[in-house]
Amino acid sequence: MNKRLEAMCRTLNLPVTADRWSAMAQQASTDNIAYSTFLYNLLEEEVAAKHARSVQTLLKFARLPFRKTLDDFDFPAQPSVDHRRMQECATLSFIEANENLIFLGPPGIGKTHLAVSLGLEAIAHGYKTYFVTAHELVLQCQKADAEGRLEKKIRSLVKPSVLIIDEMGYMKLDPGSAHYLFQVIARRYERGPILLMSNKAFGEWGEIMGDSIIATAMLDRLLHHSHIFNMKGESYRMKEKQKED
Ligand SMILES: Nc1ncnc2c1ncn2[C@@H]1O[C@H](COP(=O)(O)OP(=O)(O)OP(=O)(O)O)[C@@H](O)[C@H]1O
Ligand SMILES: [Mg+2]
Repeated sequence: MNKRLEAMCRTLNLPVTADRWSAMAQQASTDNIAYSTFLYNLLEEEVAAKHARSVQTLLKFARLPFRKTLDDFDFPAQPSVDHRRMQECATLSFIEANENLIFLGPPGIGKTHLAVSLGLEAIAHGYKTYFVTAHELVLQCQKADAEGRLEKKIRSLVKPSVLIIDEMGYMKLDPGSAHYLFQVIARRYERGPILLMSNKAFGEWGEIMGDSIIATAMLDRLLHHSHIFNMKGESYRMKEKQKED
């Protein structure tokens, strides 16, 4: 019977129950635990393992450049970001409200760190998240377009609950490349939030895109429902380097 029980667990995709039921049943018998408590404990372990598996899958899919949380962020070192405002973002209400978060400012001040930490929070709550730099996004779309599967690629960038686009404006785009970005932003508009980081002010986007009309149309959609974090300060990387020297 034991073998059949374990086979049934595998059919029902209950790997923890298959592995643990026997030891837990013995323990329950020794401790004189109620049947309902035994079942509850077993299912609790199964649910926890399922959650951990889905977080691992989401983490792999997200392709975050590193894993740092909001707790790892030194807020006193970055006074241009309000701690409470970030904590509010960490409640993830922006996801259901389809609001974009935009982090602007010079290099090394924590833009990517903050977006990654919100991405991790979203993943922990089961939201599919995808991290990409603007440059990578354009390359992916170019490749897909050349292979006749642009629509599929755009759909894959529109689908995740949270799309993080990093390093907007670090490389100049030609109008064709800007159009790929526009399509993703336009298709996610009011449908799925974007977290976007840039070291360029909005006024410079026309120059980045090589097309002021497309830049204006992109910003119009991005900014309609958005929270903007205007960050300042010296590079944390440089500060850490100076401490080491
Ligand atoms: N206030 C902070 N507390 C803790 N770590 C920080 C803070 N600010 C930045 N860092 C760390 O410094 C490094 C650079 O930060 P990050 O990558 O977020 O910068 P950035 O603003 O995205 O810069 P860039 O525009 O060059 O991409 C990261 O390792 C990040 O974790
Ligand atoms: Mg960055």
